[in-house]
Amino acid sequence: MNPFITRGYAGPEYFCDREQETRDIIKLLTNGNNIALISPRRLGKTDLIRHCFSQPELKKEYYTFLIDIYSTSSLRDFVNMLGKAILDELKPRGRKAWEKFLAALTSLKAEVSFDFTGNPVWGMGLSSIDNPGVTLDEIFGYLNNADRQCIVAIDEFQQINSYANGEDVEATLRTHIQRCPNATFIFSGSRRHLMGKMFTSPSRPFYQSVITMGLAPIACDKYVAFCNDMFAKHKKSIAEGVVEHVYDLFDGVTLCLQRVMNVLFMNTPTGGLATIDMVDEAVTYLINLLNDNFETMMNQLPEKQRAVLIAIAHEGDVKSISSGAFNKKYRLLSPSSTVAATKALIDKDFVTSENGHYRVYDRFFALWLKERS
Ligand SMILES: Nc1ncnc2c1ncn2[C@@H]1O[C@H](COP(=O)(O)OP(=O)(O)O)[C@@H](O)[C@H]1O
Ligand SMILES: [Mg+2]
Repeated sequence: MNPFITRGYAGPEYFCDREQETRDIIKLLTNGNNIALISPRRLGKTDLIRHCFSQPELKKEYYTFLIDIYSTSSLRDFVNMLGKAILDELKPRGRKAWEKFLAALTSLKAEVSFDFTGNPVWGMGLSSIDNPGVTLDEIFGYLNNADRQCIVAIDEFQQINSYANGEDVEATLRTHIQRCPNATFIFSGSRRHLMGKMFTSPSRPFYQSVITMGLAPIACDKYVAFCNDMFAKHKKSIAEGVVEHVYDLFDGVTLCLQRVMNVLFMNTPTGGLATIDMVDEAVTYLINLLNDNFETMMNQLPEKQRAVLIAIAHEGDVKSISSGAFNKKYRLLSPSSTVAATKALIDKDFVTSENGHYRVYDRFFALWLKERS
């Protein structure tokens, strides 16, 4: 098995560092504090939550639920996802655990089905949640009366801003959460400006209701040690400076590092050494693998946005998107249309703006764009 996991959490032995963050999160949660966890995508928020949830302090004492609401577009989707997550978590804990939950869902009872082993299945589908507000009440009723304390993580929480009645949903959730002392919450999200606004604007329901934590990249020396250890366990080794080089190439973005190290591990025979000249080959290999994805992504963009995206990729890090110099250099139409196109690219998650710096979100995509266009 390749010890460099590129999708999902595979257990503490494949998880690099985050020791301090894990301690901090567990301490805050077990002391009844709600947390907002904010960082750009792919640094490891979701995995960190899973890692915390799998620590004995939480696993043994609490019910932990995690939902990623990135794909939801309404309160109904949200309620459906939360209900399913709770049932799936309670199922392995036995009939007593899940029966209590189902009993609370009076509005849906007729809709829960059972598989051949007698276990309940969240099969009601969206259409049968007639009144998501009522079902949400019932779910919170359960959380507050569960036989253990609950921890609920809502990942990509900023997504509720895009619901048609997002403001109402935000206010409703806040009210429920306030009245639910038996549960603590983690709200995690990648869109810094959206998440920031939700928790720091006095006019918003969640204002000052959480402790905000930013997640930084894993420290380079910790990641180097992790890689050396993983290689050594499989009787392979890495030449000095290789991991540092990969780290710099991808600014420490965890998923990118893991992907490259996964390929380096794959290309290093047992007893062999991973060398620095293998890095380019690994990156090219990964970019080729992702080629079709990237082409589809490009084809979906209007011409103007495509041109701006390519310009940002070539520039790498753009400080002033509306500057004459930048627009001239890449022969863009006009600063104002560049600003509009950039806004659309940010909304689509193609581009990030962190502290006034614009970059292509996906580093592999950026390299691909630089090579192809
Ligand atoms: N501490 C870690 N050690 C090793 N790999 C990690 C770690 N954190 C994240 N990853 C890898 O990075 C990927 C992206 O992490 P994820 O938690 O999904 O990021 P985010 O939720 O911030 O977008 C994961 O699928 C996993 O492969
Ligand atoms: Mg995530």
